[in-house]
Amino acid sequence: MPNAHIVKKNLKPFPIKGGDFSYEFISMSKYDKLIYVKGRGDKFFLQMIDKEDEILLKADKITKPTNVKVVQDAIKYFIEANEMEIIQSNIFSTRNHLNKKSPFQKDIFFYQDFKPDANIEIEIGFGSGRHILYRAKENPDTIFIGIEIHKPSIEQLLKQCEFQNIKNIFVIDYDARILLQTLLSNIVDKIYLHFPVPWDKKPHRRVISKSFINEAIRVLKPGGKFELRTDSQNYFEYSYDLFISLKQSEIIVKKNIDIDIVSKYEDRWKKMEKNIYDIIFINQELSEEKEIFEISGFDKKVNFSKLYKKFKNHTIREEDCFVHFENIYKTDDNNGIIQLSFGSYGKSEHRYLLINEKVTYLPSKILPTKQNIYADKIIKEFIYE
Ligand SMILES: C[S@@+](CC[C@H](N)C(=O)[O-])C[C@H]1O[C@@H](n2cnc3c(N)ncnc32)[C@H](O)[C@@H]1O
Repeated sequence: MPNAHIVKKNLKPFPIKGGDFSYEFISMSKYDKLIYVKGRGDKFFLQMIDKEDEILLKADKITKPTNVKVVQDAIKYFIEANEMEIIQSNIFSTRNHLNKKSPFQKDIFFYQDFKPDANIEIEIGFGSGRHILYRAKENPDTIFIGIEIHKPSIEQLLKQCEFQNIKNIFVIDYDARILLQTLLSNIVDKIYLHFPVPWDKKPHRRVISKSFINEAIRVLKPGGKFELRTDSQNYFEYSYDLFISLKQSEIIVKKNIDIDIVSKYEDRWKKMEKNIYDIIFINQELSEEKEIFEISGFDKKVNFSKLYKKFKNHTIREEDCFVHFENIYKTDDNNGIIQLSFGSYGKSEHRYLLINEKVTYLPSKILPTKQNIYADKIIKEFIYE
């Protein structure tokens, strides 16, 4: 994570320009400060923590762009613009990072562009990307959607797409369990889930669950396939039980059968002579069209100073969703930021609510899942109360 320890010094007045970045404002909470940055196709915060005799400046976890170099440079130019002195930092490391947002990285609302007549295959948790790259090269007319939560893996795949001139892979940086809920019905030909983390001690973090399988069936075309490949007998049995308990189910099970591309994880398990299990589920259903939910914007101005006075860290829990109001930041008497986590239990999402003339979720709007629609209602009730 890019960061710099800096000698304490007063900042210049905002907005500040530095290199190709614009630092719009700074907002303060009891614990830290957020600096709003725009540049290279991204909008994000840098987090600033005042220590006894130094300042720590680093990427903010919620809004952090995928490309490390963008954050490194945003920190570097901010320090330069304020003529600050670095004590220690990792912002000059010269690993071969992408310099700006790749056109193959799509935002979480990309689902709106899916064309139902296209051939679409999804890989969840592509890791090193070996499998998705291989499939995309073999099938240039198919659109491959890679969904990952690990930013270094995403950056690595985007670099490979650029390097190998591959134009049929699109990459989304999000939790696939949530994203799948927003796709249209009957549009996906294949979903690959290869070597998911088994999470034996925290099963709620697994990708596969009863509700995930229902969503996978819904988005698959009739005849579409879901393919699990795992080295964990426990995960294999757990998944098999879920698929076989469906009312109707066509499943192919394999053990230690090679496929034409070996992923990094598979390489490792093979060297350890572990068994490898496949479950291929073939969808039979034509699912009902998906009801398109909409989350409306914020139509009224917020009285920030009133909100600031009443704010306390608290959580509102409903049956299948929650909202945690975590922290509040003040830019000035009328403007500020609220830090939130929300969504369904075990699959929490994080956003900031930027409050000025308008109210906006950052880094992006929230996805219209059932739980988020409810969470959004709770958030609106709280800020307008
Ligand atoms: C054990 S690795 C396997 C990587 C790759 N499939 C392979 O075979 O080498 C599991 C990957 O799934 C990703 N992952 C875990 N949970 C996820 C989720 N909910 N949505 C998307 N990706 C996820 C992890 O970041 C990690 O890269």
